[in-house]
Amino acid sequence: PPSSRVSLTVNGTRRTVTVDNRTSLLDLLREHLGLAGSKKGCNAGACGACTVLVDGRRVNACLTLAVRLEGAEVTTIEGLAEGDRLHPLQQAFIDEDAFQCGYCTPGQIVSGVGCIQEGHTGSPEEIREWMSGNICRCGCYVKIVRAVDQTAA
Ligand code: FES
Repeated sequence: PPSSRVSLTVNGTRRTVTVDNRTSLLDLLREHLGLAGSKKGCNAGACGACTVLVDGRRVNACLTLAVRLEGAEVTTIEGLAEGDRLHPLQQAFIDEDAFQCGYCTPGQIVSGVGCIQEGHTGSPEEIREWMSGNICRCGCYVKIVRAVDQTAA
């Protein structure tokens, strides 16, 4: 199958890879770059477990073709902490106990960071609305919203 070379920046590091043109950003991250923090839930844009930031905007990595990201800046859950210091929203998820099984958590946190950067944090209802692409089967929504709300404040 046809393949292409693509150069992009992932968590601040320039990466150049040759991939099958059908490769999703999610598979590029997980299988080619060894960044398995972004999770594959539905692989169809319905759950948000694969959420990453591309040029600061939230995307479902499972729906994004890797070869279209020439020159893009991608941030994943692995890129949020600074050394040993967690991102404030990561710390808030721990403090608020905002997960059970944890499978959706990387996507929830990256989406929460995007939500904060976009300024959609005026009220718990607004946060919930703008995080509605991220499903949590354990039903931790109240605590997830609380974590985002406290970090945004
Ligand atoms: Fe991408 Fe579910 S794995 S939205």
